[in-house]
Amino acid sequence: MVIKLQKSLLNTLLTNYLNNTTMAQFKDHQADEKHETRELLLNRLPQLKKRKPRLLTLPSNNFIFETMVLERYPNAIIDCMEIDRKLYNQTKDQLPVKVNYEFGDIFDKLQDNPDTYDFIWLDLCGNLSTSNMYNIISVVQTSLKKTCIFAFTLASAREQRTKIFTNLYKCTGQEFRYKVFPKMIVKLGRMFHPKLAFKKLIKYKNTSNSVPMSLYLFQTF
Ligand SMILES: C[S@@+](CC[C@H](N)C(=O)[O-])C[C@H]1O[C@@H](n2cnc3c(N)ncnc32)[C@H](O)[C@@H]1O
Repeated sequence: MVIKLQKSLLNTLLTNYLNNTTMAQFKDHQADEKHETRELLLNRLPQLKKRKPRLLTLPSNNFIFETMVLERYPNAIIDCMEIDRKLYNQTKDQLPVKVNYEFGDIFDKLQDNPDTYDFIWLDLCGNLSTSNMYNIISVVQTSLKKTCIFAFTLASAREQRTKIFTNLYKCTGQEFRYKVFPKMIVKLGRMFHPKLAFKKLIKYKNTSNSVPMSLYLFQTF
């Protein structure tokens, strides 16, 4: 049975979690550290043990990650979403690789296609906003396959609502971002996927003076 997480329910769950816990426009697609995160994700794919994995991604306009996947898995099916209409229109007729490229919100795509993807990477441009939190938790509760890799990338700074959470969880902004939030995802996700696990957190920068980024990697088994 799949239950969609309503905002009021999310608030209740956040409060319950507090009671149970002890701790009170990406631009540079060529950056080395960013590329390491792509390689890390690519190197996870064999764990799926699938010759024809189905992936959902947010591409850059050079489709660098999707190219890497197709080189290793020529039979992979890759659905790519783009929410920026201008960028989508500029790109759609000159795709450098064989992917399904669609205009729209990746979170809507996941709501409409639950239990479909072996690998999902939400390489988001934003930070840990309440809407990103809500959408990410909804994905782990309603859209993941029994066995899949689920990753997301967020900017690790400038969260305007952080104070609400640091007060609520009696923790610093960094503790919330790097410990409490992934723990919350596991706890809420395990209601549906008992073996959901948080596998890795990679902190990196696209360029030396840019906003720090974080890649969060989860797996269901
Ligand atoms: C950081 S870039 C992707 C970089 C790429 N994965 C790479 O490896 O270089 C994110 C892209 O996703 C788009 N995007 C951000 N949020 C989205 C959403 N909710 N749905 C669809 N597209 C989104 C942005 O417009 C942008 O083009």
